[in-house]
Amino acid sequence: MRVLGIETSCDETSAAVLGDEGQVLSNVILSQDALHAPFGGVVPELASRRHIETISAVVREALDRAKTELDQVDLLAATQGPGLIGSLLVGLSFAKGLAFYHKKPLIGVDHVEAHIEGALIENPGVPFPAMALVVSGGHTSLYFLEKPLSFELLGRTRDDAAGEALDKIAKFLGLGYPGGPVIERKASGGKAKAFPFSMPRMSDRSLDFSFSGLKTAALKIIRDNKIAKGSRKLADFLASFEQAVVSATLENLGRALAERQARSIILSGGVARNKRLRAEFEKLALAEKLAFAVPSPKLCTDNAAMVASLGLKKFRAFGPNVPAPNLGLNAYPRVSAAAAE
Ligand code: KG4
Ligand code: ZN
Repeated sequence: MRVLGIETSCDETSAAVLGDEGQVLSNVILSQDALHAPFGGVVPELASRRHIETISAVVREALDRAKTELDQVDLLAATQGPGLIGSLLVGLSFAKGLAFYHKKPLIGVDHVEAHIEGALIENPGVPFPAMALVVSGGHTSLYFLEKPLSFELLGRTRDDAAGEALDKIAKFLGLGYPGGPVIERKASGGKAKAFPFSMPRMSDRSLDFSFSGLKTAALKIIRDNKIAKGSRKLADFLASFEQAVVSATLENLGRALAERQARSIILSGGVARNKRLRAEFEKLALAEKLAFAVPSPKLCTDNAAMVASLGLKKFRAFGPNVPAPNLGLNAYPRVSAAAAE
């Protein structure tokens, strides 16, 4: 069995091939960071156009690296949403074309659920029930998984995602894009307690997240303390802001663990590359005596291996219900209505 996964939900064009046991034979990721960097964020129209230009070569490269021909592929998996609609349509339509021509089943995969799967690829023995936190540039969502493939959304951001808040502050200070890795680099050696931030609180005690308040507080600190790209206090400020984003993210996880019995915790998404977040997440797991899973950095950010892997599991679970070639699949830009209920 060979699975070809395709991911184009935002600004990475990615294709991956998985073998019988779900082992990753190739995982090609073409980043558009340089294209969007001058704008300090992803420009949706440029992203979808670039996906169109590169998707074919990226899929070819993934097949070549896996020494696999297209007619050896048994299953196609593509990201359906959420994400930028134009970008999603490129990958999904490309996958439909391949499925139609080669008469192969095509399975649609949710991008945020695929991030959770990204953590399971290298940690297949994670015990369930599990609590999963996806922290990226587009999403900050908390899920409870009673068992594998049962994704119950407990909370999500009501405004900015955690990565988006990092990206916006980096853009404001002219530090470059994507902001998360730049902030991590420039925060190193800074004092995380130098600038205190108060934690966001939901008045209704829900497990939703909010990062816009932290962003506003950050802008006020920047103005009041005249913090700029080259200033002496920059490292202290960035370390404090990074810490505030990490604390706000993990606080909800801690609250959710008090409400629901879990045996493990999972962290994924682009911001899960952050060393401060990884360290505090591990500390929480040890304190709560829970198993934990965090992907290696390449599987944290957007990639098609996580899409192919979730596609394979869904196919094995619900396979007979997946029509080949399944051309009726539609892309959706936001967290699916079913998941949000
Ligand atoms: O998962 P991802 O590739 O795309 C989305 O689904 O959004 O995540 C990209 C996000 C960006 O906001 C980027 O700034 C952030 O992940 N990021 C980081 C780090 N590396 C990437 N944030 C903090 N620290 C990092 N080392
Ligand atoms: Zn993502």
